[in-house]
Amino acid sequence: MKVSVALLLLRCLSITDGNDFADGKNNQPNIWTEVRDVRDMVVELKVKLDIVMKENANMAQQIQELKKENAGITEQLKISENQLEAIKRENAEQAKVAFSADLGLRGDLGPQSTEITLTFNNIFTNTGNNYNPATGLFTAPVKGVYYFRFTACGVQSKHSLGASLHKNGQKIVSVGQWRNHDQHRYGSNGAVLQLEVGDVVCMKLLPGYTIYDSPDNLSTFSGFLIFPL
Ligand SMILES: *[C@@H]1O[C@H](CO)[C@@H](O)[C@H](O)[C@H]1NC(C)=O
Repeated sequence: MKVSVALLLLRCLSITDGNDFADGKNNQPNIWTEVRDVRDMVVELKVKLDIVMKENANMAQQIQELKKENAGITEQLKISENQLEAIKRENAEQAKVAFSADLGLRGDLGPQSTEITLTFNNIFTNTGNNYNPATGLFTAPVKGVYYFRFTACGVQSKHSLGASLHKNGQKIVSVGQWRNHDQHRYGSNGAVLQLEVGDVVCMKLLPGYTIYDSPDNLSTFSGFLIFPL
């Protein structure tokens, strides 16, 4: 823009220089016309310059706003990253508890005159090792809500099938099927239990009842932590 203004002025000067005023009347109006044109152009250029400068200012403002927005997004991202890290840490620290086992018997157990604790020793899963296959006892490692379920199979026609889930020695849920039935019979039950650290959950064979298992893994006991409290 400066260059064009300079060129115009040069042109104007060269006209003035190259033409003697005294040469004739004809040149005078032309010079003034040129000067007017230059003035008009300067005015026009100034208007254009104002527009460009205004646009520039707008753009600078937009850039500032974008920068601010970008800073906001960056901050939000940082917060999200921190939250994700916290969740990952919490997840890593959270106890992982799950077990599943089959009774491991080849044949019948019972009837007996007293309740006995069933030792499901054919382990499928024992994450955290909180279930002891030697004693049949599950011991809660953390306070939380747990789920336990079991299936008991029985085959003896002269005896009933029966088993029950116990928490700290207290009967929670049971299954039973009366005798005189010579097919495989099944009973299933389960419970969601809130446990304190050290609470013990196990399966017991009811007095006078039987339970059966085969290599098909017919009688099973499983449990897992749903969430800690
Ligand atoms: C019984 O459990 C064992 C795992 O201990 C497994 O290898 C086997 O295939 C299971 N039997 C059947 C019939 O599912």
